[in-house]
Amino acid sequence: MKKVVSGMRPTGKLHLGHYFGVIKNWLELQEKYDCKFFIADWHALTNKYAETEKLKENIREMIIDWLSCGIDPTKSTLFIQSGVKEHAELSLLFSMITPKSWLELNPSYKDLKFNLYYQYLRDFLAGKQVKIIQTPPPESLDQALEKATGKQKNKIFEEYLREAFHRAFYNQKGIDFNWLKEVLVKLGLQKKLVEEAVRNLEEGDVGKEIDTLGFLAYPVLQAADILIYKADFVPVGEDQLPHIELTREIARRFNKLYGETFPEPEAILTEKSRLPGIDGRKMSKSYNNAIYLSDGREEVERKVLEMKTDPQRIRKNDPGNPEVCTVFTYHSIFTEDEKREEIAKLCREGSIGCVECKKLLAERINRFLYPIREKRKEVEKEIGRYEELFREGTEKARSQASKTMEEVRKGMGLWEF
Ligand code: TRP
Ligand code: SF4
Repeated sequence: MKKVVSGMRPTGKLHLGHYFGVIKNWLELQEKYDCKFFIADWHALTNKYAETEKLKENIREMIIDWLSCGIDPTKSTLFIQSGVKEHAELSLLFSMITPKSWLELNPSYKDLKFNLYYQYLRDFLAGKQVKIIQTPPPESLDQALEKATGKQKNKIFEEYLREAFHRAFYNQKGIDFNWLKEVLVKLGLQKKLVEEAVRNLEEGDVGKEIDTLGFLAYPVLQAADILIYKADFVPVGEDQLPHIELTREIARRFNKLYGETFPEPEAILTEKSRLPGIDGRKMSKSYNNAIYLSDGREEVERKVLEMKTDPQRIRKNDPGNPEVCTVFTYHSIFTEDEKREEIAKLCREGSIGCVECKKLLAERINRFLYPIREKRKEVEKEIGRYEELFREGTEKARSQASKTMEEVRKGMGLWEF
């Protein structure tokens, strides 16, 4: 049977976005393949090493979330990464053959750094009373620059700021801060401010928390997670594709140096969840707009009532446009076709109120969550027994991992004990 491996970092309780992005996919895969799903607690340490007080709790929460959703320890092997020390050994051996440049050029590493730097720049300017305008500008950055007079303003379009920083960041020579300064001053920001912000970026602590060996080597550990089980498929989101590519490169390099050992795994791209958060932006813990799988009935109803609707619709008998309404996006996932079409029609005619429409939705989300909640009660009541299942999974994973490691040590000509 084909082998599937995937992991999730324990960063807190799961929400509907995780369900429709990842879990749903895993549920299907576990029916067809020999699956291993693990909690990537070492990976969580790569950027959260300073806040470990919640780690155990987060792992326990993840165990409960997975099992409540129907991830099934009798079908899949479920385990915790740090329980299989062999991942660390293989990661160490891989680190010997992985050129540093592969990691430094790794797009997710760069993107994370970009985000940290950009956020800092934006927050710094906002803190100095520069107004960051969120609405899209009427013209492109280049057009704006052509006309720019350099006359001082204390506002800037967010889009220009981001675009300028993006260009400064992603160029061949490393970050081109001089060009960035020039552009921002030309767009009217005060020279002193811009210089201070850039100096802080160049010399300060921004991004330092991920300037660690562990963070840089994140994909090497991930390659070990995957290759140690000789996986055929790795279900991941789009953001993880570079890591899978790197995994394949490491496998090829290893095979070439020490003989054919690892098959090259293929990514199974998990479709992006179409579910936005209740405010219409991407669902994320940090935006505070998520509906959690562990939310109770009332909580779900409260959140749905807060959801963004068609902003043009003010009174109940105004005709609405379901296409631009977050509530309707949810209906398209949770509501049966017929009923959904009816709601769309009533909305367009202005003969259903948004509150009523939301109540219908809350009802359906609650219906969807019902079996998950029931299972959760069972799991929570006997958490010890379910943790034991993870312990068994860890043992099972370890016995396979250690077989691969014997082969690896032999292939590399290491000392045999
Ligand atoms: N990097 C993955 C993520 O953040 C988690 C992960 C760690 C993983 N090891 C893995 C995913 C191995 C697939 C296979 O989503
Ligand atoms: Fe959205 Fe429903 Fe209101 Fe129409 S009636 S705008 S679909 S919440």
